[in-house]
Order: sequence, then C-alpha cells, then structure tokens
Amino acid sequence: MPRKILVTSALPYANGSIHLGHLVEYIQTDIWVRFQKMRGNTCHYVCADDTHGTPIMLRAEKEGITPEQLIARVWQEHYDDFAAFHIEFDNYGSTNSAENKECAQSIYRTLKANGLIEVRSIEQYYDPVKNMFLPDRFIKGECPKCHAKDQYGDNCEVCGAAYAPTDLINPFSAVSGAAPVLRNSDHYFFKLSSPSCQKFLREWTVGKLTKEPPLQIEAANKMQEWLGTEGWTDSDEHKLSDWDISRDAPYFGFEIPDAPGKYFYVWLDAPVGYMGSFKQLCAKTGISFDDYWKQGSDTELYHFIGKDILYFHALFWPAMLQHAGFRTPTKLFAHGFLTVNGEKMSKSRGTFITARSYVDHIKNTEYLRYYYAAKLNGSMEDLDLNLEDFVAKVNSDLIGKYINIASRCAGFLTKFFDGKLIFPNSKRLHDGAISSGQLVSESFEARDYARALRDIMAIADRINVEIAATAPWTLAKDEAQREALHDICSRALHGFYVLSILLRPVLPALTSRVARELFDMSRDFTWDDLAALPTHINSYQHLATRLDPKLIEAMVAANQESLKPMTESHSETRHAEHQQHAISPIAETISIDDFSKIDLRVAHIVNAEHVEGAEKLLKLTLDIGEEKPRTVFAGIKSAYDPEKLKGRMTVMVANLAPRKMKFGLSEGMVLAASGEAPGLFVLSPDDGAQPGMRIK
Ligand code: 2FM
Ligand code: ZN
Repeated sequence: MPRKILVTSALPYANGSIHLGHLVEYIQTDIWVRFQKMRGNTCHYVCADDTHGTPIMLRAEKEGITPEQLIARVWQEHYDDFAAFHIEFDNYGSTNSAENKECAQSIYRTLKANGLIEVRSIEQYYDPVKNMFLPDRFIKGECPKCHAKDQYGDNCEVCGAAYAPTDLINPFSAVSGAAPVLRNSDHYFFKLSSPSCQKFLREWTVGKLTKEPPLQIEAANKMQEWLGTEGWTDSDEHKLSDWDISRDAPYFGFEIPDAPGKYFYVWLDAPVGYMGSFKQLCAKTGISFDDYWKQGSDTELYHFIGKDILYFHALFWPAMLQHAGFRTPTKLFAHGFLTVNGEKMSKSRGTFITARSYVDHIKNTEYLRYYYAAKLNGSMEDLDLNLEDFVAKVNSDLIGKYINIASRCAGFLTKFFDGKLIFPNSKRLHDGAISSGQLVSESFEARDYARALRDIMAIADRINVEIAATAPWTLAKDEAQREALHDICSRALHGFYVLSILLRPVLPALTSRVARELFDMSRDFTWDDLAALPTHINSYQHLATRLDPKLIEAMVAANQESLKPMTESHSETRHAEHQQHAISPIAETISIDDFSKIDLRVAHIVNAEHVEGAEKLLKLTLDIGEEKPRTVFAGIKSAYDPEKLKGRMTVMVANLAPRKMKFGLSEGMVLAASGEAPGLFVLSPDDGAQPGMRIK
C-alpha cells in the first residue's frame, strides 16, 4: 500500500533573500520528497512565505510601500529562487492568505472554547516616538546581572542570564533610539502551563503517544532539558510558561477574533501556514484536508526544520494541534546550520551567498544539491560547505565518475551497434540493480544521503575500474573485438542507467535528460525502473561540464561586502526579529586607569562540559598559569559543543569577583563577541600566547 505523506519545510521570512543557508533545508526536504514520489508513495510537499510581524511592517514602511506589496514582491523572488534549485513544492503559499486566516482563527476559537486562552494585562515597553509596543528583541540595554552593554531584552548573551526587558539598565528602543516607557496592555495567552498541556507534552516528546518517537534523539534530549526529567513533579523550574500569542496594533498580521486591535503573534500563524498552504493544494486537486489533519489520521506528517526553531515545533505547535482537535506531526526532522569554509557565513569574507548570486555565477544548481546531499546524514550536526572541496567533489564524483561512464562508452554503442544494448547475463545485472536499490533506498528513507551517495559512487567506481581494464577505445580499433566491445559498453550503460535512477532525487534535471534523451523514455525514472534492462540508447549529448574554480572565486568576490556598492544589504540571519536594529551606542569614555583595573589573561581551556539542568551554561576549567585551574560557568552553550572547546586558548577576566551560582562558584568570565545576528564567538589569542599572559 502506498503511504500517504505530507511534508513541509520551514516557512522562510518574507523580509530577506533566500541564501545558501536556507537551501540546506529545502534541498534536504526536496530530495526526500522526490525519493518518496519515485517509490510510488503519495507525497505532498507544501511551504509558504512567513509574512507577518513587526520587522516586515517596518521594512515596508521604510520602503514607502504597503506590507502587502512588499510580501508579494518577496514571494515572487523566493518562488523563482526555489525553482532555480529544483525545489518542487506542490503548493507554495503565503501565511497572509484567506486559508491561513481561517485555520488560525478556528484553532484559536477551539483553544478558547477549551479554556486554554487567558487574557492578562501586562506591562510592556512602549516606544513613545514610534507609538508602538516594542518586542523584546527591539529593546536593548545593559545586562542587570553582568552589566554587559547592548544586550537584548530577553536574555544576556554574555552571562546567559534570562530576564524581562524591564530589568535592563538604560534601555533604548532599537527602532527609534528613544528611551521606552512602560505601559499596560491586555495580552492573550495560550495556557501551556495547564495540566493538560504539560501532561501531553511530557508524553508526546518522549514518544509515549505515537508509534515511533517524533523527535531525533538529540532533539528529545533538548526537550528533556526544557521539560525536566521523567520524574517531574510540579516544580516551578521546569514548568512551561503560558505563551503570549497576541501583539498590539500597529502590527502586520491577523486580528484575533473578538479582540479589536489585537493581532496573532507571527509565530502563532506561521506553523498554521503549513495547513493554510495545504488547504490551497486541496482546493486545486481535490485532496481531502481532513484526511491529513484530523485527529486520528493515519497519514504521515513530517516537518523539516532547523534546530533553532525546535522549541516552536516541538512544544507550542503540537500542543496547539492536540488541543484544537488536529493530529500531531509524525516526526520533526531537525538539521544543523551551514558554515562556509568552516566558519559562519560572512559578508566580509564573501561567503554570505544568496541563491540568486549562486545562480548568476555558477548556474548549475544541481552541483550544490549534490554537495549538500553528500554531507547530509540526517543528524542535527552543522554542515560545512568547503568551497575547494565543493569543486573537487563535483568534478571527481559527478563528472569524473558518473558522467564519465556514459561519455566514454555511449558513442561506441551508437557508432557500431545502432544504439542497441545486449545483455548475455541479464539476471546478474537485474539482481545487482535490485540489491543496490534496496541498499540506497534505506539510506534515502533515513535521510542519510551521505551514505546513499557513498554507496552510489562505489558502484560508479566498480564500473569505471572495469571500463579502464577492458579499454573499449582500444577494442574499438579491432574488428575482431566487436562482441567484447558491445558487451562492456552495454554493461557500462546499464550501470549508468541504474546510477541515474538512484541519483534522481538529488539530480532531477540531469537524470530527466538521461531518461528522455539518452534512454529514449517519454517520462522520468521511477524506482521500479531498476527492475528493467534498457534496450537501446539515442546518441549521447553532452550532459555536464566540470565546475571551474574561477566561477567560485568570482562569486565570492562579488559577495564581498566591501566591494559591493552601498545597496540594501542582505540579512545574515533567518531571524527577522534580529534585524533592523539601530547600531547601539559606544559606551562612555573611560581612562586607561579604568581599563587597567581589568586583569585580562590568556586562558587554556583544559576542560569544557555540560552542566546538568543548566539551559545556557557550560562549565569551563581554565588554566591561567596558577597552581589550581579556575572554574568558570559561561553562557555559551547555545553556540559551542564543549568537545570543540577543549584545548583551545581564550581570554578571561581573572579579577572579577567570584560569583556563587546555582551550579557552583564561577571564578571569572571568558570573553565572547556577539552582534545583531544570533551567535556567540569566544575570543582566541594569536598562536604563541601562553596561559597566564596578561592582555593589555
Ligand atoms: O525561522 C524562520 O525562518 C521562520 N520563518 C520559520 C517558520 S516555520 C513555521 F513554523 F512556519
Ligand atoms: Zn549578563
């Protein structure tokens, strides 16, 4: 029985361009969907632009257009970018659609009827110049705990403290720069703290309510950190807080029913956008919406997401669905972030590359699909696009191994044998194709594309070894060797046929040409084609060109911010709310004497480890040349795997008064940089610096 599957990728914000970081997810999803479709399963892939919220409203205002005009323009750009990378959605919608509004409002109404919505007056910062309430991320100021300047309104990226924006010292509006004032306003909350939500999430996240666990093991562990351990009692520490789902006008979004001037927070109607987009698909095709979304549905639902939005998808979203009468996701597939050449994408290095810029310079988007696939293994690990390795891999694998087979052998078949293929030992070839298909399909299903491609390239290697050993170009010179020539070229082309079927999810355009132009089929390959033996080929047409490293150099140079004219720069982050900030003011002037009061030392990170129960902290053991190493709790867990910190040198404030924390005594502080975009960057001295050296 074919499976019935609905697949989504996260909805990209409508205030920035699609870049190579986004494409990791869309390519990963598209490969999986194409694989499912090839296998004969019913699989629908929907997505949409995520269009609501303050940043989009402010950006439209800045451009002098309406938010609707802005999102229409961005929608077309996104749509074209995805098409260029062969991301084939069955429907690409917008969260600002009638269907989405209807779904969001109906979910809200049911939650309300079930007693899960509560209205509370909250005191919030208001920008008196801009006349609007300020989201936490639009308020900045000094951390009340460690006094680091320029921290966001919700948590300190230096010491890891979480607080309310009202705790910030000297707060300022990142929109106008004005000092915000406190005002009261009614907000609508989804009662995540209700016993019913707590119980449900505690069970759902560990797989007690579903046939299979809905989360990858790393994600389930993260949930346990947020929700507390199994033996959870009603302790406050791990009690989920109610979720504030409303925002006050002015806001670009959907008005909350019976609540004039109140709008759904963008993160409420964003995941509902999966439903809204699917509803549009149902209207176009006659698929039943309820079949896929009603509670008790036996269809499968998968959300591909980045690990940064796990919280929304693993807590808020399933709780909302469950309590509004809908089914919950079968699984969430979270992936890691993209680095380029081992580092975060950067405008100054020219590695913040938009989809458009890639297309303009490299053109062939299947090269990137191939490279990402070769690196994706279904885990939440980050993925590195090493540009040198990218060129090497495309040229050695795709061109040197795969295309090489057809380009070397096909010509002899058309020249001497009228394109006919012969298979004296057809059973062996058939069985080999079926067992390769079995092996590779398991890897695709498990989203371990890296393993799939390793196995596929191993097949290509074996065929190439045989071609080299039999040397058809030498056989062709000898009339007496026609049979041997026909045999090796037929087997090589059968191998090419099998490889093309297996590669179709990754290389849909190239393999479509192979099916139609070379193997003379009037359709694309399906997985079942593995069982057949091709009978003839048409004459071979050039299929792909080697990737020229100069194209990469030109692309990187064109993206280097300092070389670009002063146009609107692209967003470095997927988080819309991290954008559009004013540059924070430089702190007040101090004397050299003030500075020298801080004893900064080079520290060797002897050990780094997780701290049980701590959401943001890592425990570091630092050697600064003293008899006993120091212990420092640093709020850098979100950015670093402790294993990767061990052995590194960094910089610490050695004369900071020790601080008693819940997890032990912290004897100093390590220095890290942070900016508008998410992320923390621990400082390192140049090579040669020794533990204990003073920094002056
Ligand atoms: O992080 C993001 O880019 C969000 N726009 C993703 C939304 S996914 C879903 F919930 F809509
Ligand atoms: Zn702090």
